[in-house]
Amino acid sequence: MDNAFTKLPVAVLSLNPAVDITYEIPQLIADQKVHALKSRYDPGGNGINVGRGLKRLGVPACTFCIVAGEIGRFLCHQLDAQLGQVSYLEVDGETRINGTILESVTGAQFEVSGVGPAVSTTQWQLLLNRFVTHCGDGLGIITGSLQRSLPTDLYAEAVRRVRAAGGRALIDSHDELLRNAIDAQPFLIKPNRFELEALVGRSLMDEQDIVREARRLQERGVTWVCISLGSEGALLVTSSSVLKGEAPPVPVASTVGAGDSMVAGMAALLAQGASAEDALREGIACSAATVMQPGTELFDKNTVDQLREKVRVRSLSL
Ligand SMILES: Nc1ncnc2c1ncn2[C@@H]1O[C@H](COP(=O)(O)OP(=O)(O)OP(=O)(O)O)[C@@H](O)[C@H]1O
Ligand SMILES: [Mg+2]
Repeated sequence: MDNAFTKLPVAVLSLNPAVDITYEIPQLIADQKVHALKSRYDPGGNGINVGRGLKRLGVPACTFCIVAGEIGRFLCHQLDAQLGQVSYLEVDGETRINGTILESVTGAQFEVSGVGPAVSTTQWQLLLNRFVTHCGDGLGIITGSLQRSLPTDLYAEAVRRVRAAGGRALIDSHDELLRNAIDAQPFLIKPNRFELEALVGRSLMDEQDIVREARRLQERGVTWVCISLGSEGALLVTSSSVLKGEAPPVPVASTVGAGDSMVAGMAALLAQGASAEDALREGIACSAATVMQPGTELFDKNTVDQLREKVRVRSLSL
């Protein structure tokens, strides 16, 4: 059921979704065939994960994605079942397949990302038009990587278009895509520590150092900078405060999808007009609940409800 408190429209852009295959095996050994103990298929890609997360939180978001070929058809079946509203644009080629291997003996996790279909300028602009129209004065969520053939300033254009329509853009990406998107002044970015270090071109020593760089990004026009810190939680730097949310201690099954769950949780609360503190708390609760799940499985809503009260958010005077 849709969340009665959600006020703003929410649109999610997913230009390169995937079918994720997860194999659970004892151990990978070179030149030897190994039989999976379990295998599963899930819809994948960062935007898709955010869309799935929003649906679990009862947010009526629409996810805009590109699908191709028979694998794309398989993905559509999965998305129809697992997402709320979806808008598909079909192109030639095949939707990519991503592989995850989980080794039970070592606990190691291997991930291979597949190659997506070619997308023309006309095609991605058509999808972007639909995305911006749905977003209106709401939230436009733009995450993940793009097919290499697409321009690295595509997310920057998406941010500009969202802002021109009166909306707020949320970016969770990296490298050139993130760098260019920042120039277009998004409302929120959510780099992890390493993505922020790559962005600023140096190692960051401590929280003070991280906050210093976040403030520099704000001077360039980003309103909120959220830096996720894995098991240490996250920092959220707004114009008026620096908040630190501690991640609750949880048993870790797989960290896949933690970042996407954090974005979904924060967006869900932003769409309700909640405070920065509550948005950060929700993001941390959702992501902690996701790390408790195996493979690419996302959080369980009941677990989020239990964890929320355990997330400590405090204001730092940095
Ligand atoms: N071991 C953990 N225990 C509890 N919460 C965790 C743990 N690892 C991650 N999280 C939660 O997930 C959030 C996002 O994790 P992280 O900083 O690793 O993001 P990320 O690198 O962007 O993730 P992803 O690989 O999914 O993109 C953290 O801020 C934290 O709230
Ligand atoms: Mg991430």
